[in-house]
Amino acid sequence: MEVVIVSDAKAGGELIAEAMAELLRHKPDALLGVATGSTPLPIYQALAAKVDSGAVDASRARVAQLDEYVGLPAEHPESYRSVLRREVLKPLGLDVDAFIGPDGTAEDVRAACEAYDKALAEAGGVDLQLLGIGTDGHIGFNEPCSSLASRTRIKTLTEQTRVDNARFFEGDIEQVPHHVITQGIGTILEARHLVLLATGEGKADAVAATVEGPVAAVCPASALQLHPHATVVVDEAAASKLK
Ligand code: F6R
Repeated sequence: MEVVIVSDAKAGGELIAEAMAELLRHKPDALLGVATGSTPLPIYQALAAKVDSGAVDASRARVAQLDEYVGLPAEHPESYRSVLRREVLKPLGLDVDAFIGPDGTAEDVRAACEAYDKALAEAGGVDLQLLGIGTDGHIGFNEPCSSLASRTRIKTLTEQTRVDNARFFEGDIEQVPHHVITQGIGTILEARHLVLLATGEGKADAVAATVEGPVAAVCPASALQLHPHATVVVDEAAASKLK
C-alpha cells in the first residue's frame, strides 16, 4: 500500500484527478469506479477542469457506481445515481449510457445485487476505484464487521453513518434511508487500482487503523492492505494519527 500525504483536499483531488487522466490517456474507455459523499468532490472538479482545458479526453470513459441507497427513487436529488449524474457524468460530458450502477429501487434487491456484480464483470472490471472512508472505517457501505470477502449486497447503515449523512438530507436523520446496496469488499478488491482519499481530522483514527492496524473486518478499509495496487491519499489532518 502506498500512502501519499498532501497538504489539503484540493491537492489530493488534483493528484488523483491526474492519475485518472493518465489512465484515460492510456485506456480511453477505462471503467472508473466512483464514490459519493463530500471527499471525492475535489477529484471530480479537478478532472472536469482537465477535460475542459483539453488536457484529457474523457469522452469514452465509463463510470461505475460504488453504492446506492435502497428505496430512494432514482430521480431523488440524493440518490447516488442523481449525485453522480450531477457531479461526474455532466461535468465530464458523459451521458447515462456510460454509467452502470445497482438498482436501489428493485423489488428483488438480492437479484439486483447479483446483477450488478455480473454487470461489473461483463464490463471488464473496474480499472480505478475511488474510495472515501467512513469515520468508522467503512468503504463503500461495508460497515465494520462486514466480511472481507463480501460481494455486492444489501447492508443496514449504522446510526453513526446515518448521522454523518444527515447533512445531505437537510440535517434530518429521519430522511436518511436505513439500507443501501454496496459493492462488497471482495468486489471492491477486484478493481485493478484502488485509490482512497481521506481528508480532515475526523478521518484520522480510521486512516491509522486502515494503514497501520491489522487487516480486520472491524476496519473494512484495512482490506486495502491485501490489494497489490492500493494508494491512500491523505491530507495532513487525516494523517495526523499515523505513527
Ligand atoms: C459513498 C461511500 C462512503 C463514503 C464515506 C465518506 O459512496 O462510498 O464510503 O466515501 O461515507 O463520506 P464523506 O466523503 O462524505 O466523508
